[in-house]
Amino acid sequence: MRILVTGKNGQLGKSINKIVNTGNSKNNYQQDNEFIFVGREELDLSSESGISHYFDNNDKFDIIINCAAYTQVDKAEQEVELANQINHLAVKQLASIASKQQVRLIHISTDYVFDGESDKPYLETDKPNPINVYGKTKLAGEKALQEAMPNNAMIIRASWVYSEYGNNFVNTMLRLGKKRNELNVVSDQIGSPTYATDLAGAILEIIKNKEFKEISQATQIYHYSNKGEISWCDFAKEIFKIAKVDCKVNPITTQQYPTPAQRPKNTLMSKDKIAEIFSVKTLNWKESLKTCIK
Ligand SMILES: NC(=O)c1ccc[n+]([C@@H]2O[C@H](COP(=O)([O-])OP(=O)(O)OC[C@H]3O[C@@H](n4cnc5c(N)ncnc54)[C@H](OP(=O)(O)O)[C@@H]3O)[C@@H](O)[C@H]2O)c1
Repeated sequence: MRILVTGKNGQLGKSINKIVNTGNSKNNYQQDNEFIFVGREELDLSSESGISHYFDNNDKFDIIINCAAYTQVDKAEQEVELANQINHLAVKQLASIASKQQVRLIHISTDYVFDGESDKPYLETDKPNPINVYGKTKLAGEKALQEAMPNNAMIIRASWVYSEYGNNFVNTMLRLGKKRNELNVVSDQIGSPTYATDLAGAILEIIKNKEFKEISQATQIYHYSNKGEISWCDFAKEIFKIAKVDCKVNPITTQQYPTPAQRPKNTLMSKDKIAEIFSVKTLNWKESLKTCIK
C-alpha cells in the first residue's frame, strides 16, 4: 500500500516515522508498504491550490494519515482564519480528494472538541461543544470530513499529546524544572496524556486490522489516549519523579493561570470503542511517560 503521512515534522508524524523505520521482522511496515512522509514544504495545507497541485502530480495513495494540524491553541484565538483553513477547510479538501480517488483517510482530532463539563469519560457519541477556536476548527474539520466521506475514513481523537519531539508539556516541564526550584501547575484540568509513539503504534496496528481493510466501512470516530485520569499538576510531578529533577510542583487553579484560549476542565475520554473494534491496547500513562523520558 502507498501510505501518505502528513505533518512529517510534528510529534505524531515523527513518531510514525520512527516506528516504520525501526521495524523489526515481526512488524516490517516498510516491506509491506511504501510510506511517503510530507511536511508543509511538499504539501502546504494552508493553500487550496497547493493541495490540489500535490494530488494532481502524485500517484494515487491507498491511505492518507493526516497528522498535520494547526495546534497552537492560544495563538489560534488570533489566527482564526489560518487555523480554520488548516484544521477545517484543508481536511474537507483532503476528504473530498480521498473520496473521489477511493483512498482511505485516517484523520486525527482532539479532546478539545468537548467543553469539559462532563463528570464521566466522554464517549464518541457525546455531543461536542468546543470552547476555543482550536477546538471549533477541529470540530468543523471532523464534520466536513464526515460529510465529504461518509465511508472509508476514521477520525481518532487524542488528548494531551507529548513525545520526545518538539514543544510539548513534558519537554517544557523538563526545561523549566532544571532551571527553577518550584513551578505552579494547573490542578483543576483533568484528562489523559497520549504518548505519540503509542498513538502511532495504534494507527499502524489499525491499518493491518481486517476490520479496517473491509471495503466501504462507514466513517467513524474513535477516542484514544493512554490509560489514567490525571491533572496537569499530577503529570508534572510524575515527570520530575521519573527524570529525577528536584523541582517542587505547586497546584494552582485555571483562574490563577489565565491563557488567551479557554481550556476544557475534564476531557477524559473512553477508549472502549477503539479497543473493542481494533483490539488496540492502551498503556498506562505512567508506563508510557517512563518510556518517553528514558
Ligand atoms: N499536541 C497535542 O497536545 C494534541 C492534543 C490532542 C490532539 N492533537 C491532534 O493530534 C494531531 C497531531 O498533533 P501533533 O502533536 O503531532 O502536532 P504538532 O507536533 O504540532 O505537528 C503538527 C504538524 O502540522 C504541520 N503543519 C502546520 N501547518 C501546516 C501547513 N500549513 N501545511 C502542512 N503542514 C502543516 C506542522 O508543520 P511544521 O512542523 O512545519 O510547523 C507540524 O509538523 C493533530 O491533529 C492535533 O490536532 C494534538
